[in-house]
Amino acid sequence: MDRDLTLTKYHVLICNGGSCMQQGGEQVTQELRQEIEAQGLQSLVHTSRTRCNGRCGDACVVIVYPKGVWYKGVTPSVGRQIVRSLKRSENYAPAVLAEYNGETFVSGKGAPQ
Ligand code: FES
Repeated sequence: MDRDLTLTKYHVLICNGGSCMQQGGEQVTQELRQEIEAQGLQSLVHTSRTRCNGRCGDACVVIVYPKGVWYKGVTPSVGRQIVRSLKRSENYAPAVLAEYNGETFVSGKGAPQ
């Protein structure tokens, strides 16, 4: 059965490209999905596995839309924090690589200096 998108608030793209998979991408994918269930967010948060997002040096990469927030270095633990932050309509700042400011993407707090 197709997902009812009218209930979806966030779309979480989980990079499953080669570099991210070498850095635990499968575990990140599973943990994110389990935490979404644990937090009761199944109707609000939809996840998709993607191929490489072009930021392999930041593996594992997770992207949240429509916020336009890119996360880097996502581990299963960080993945749980990202889901919990979504529940509060916040970003998990320590892992933010970049976020959309309405015109372009700007570096986040978790970005390299
Ligand atoms: S494999 Fe994930 S960004 Fe390239």
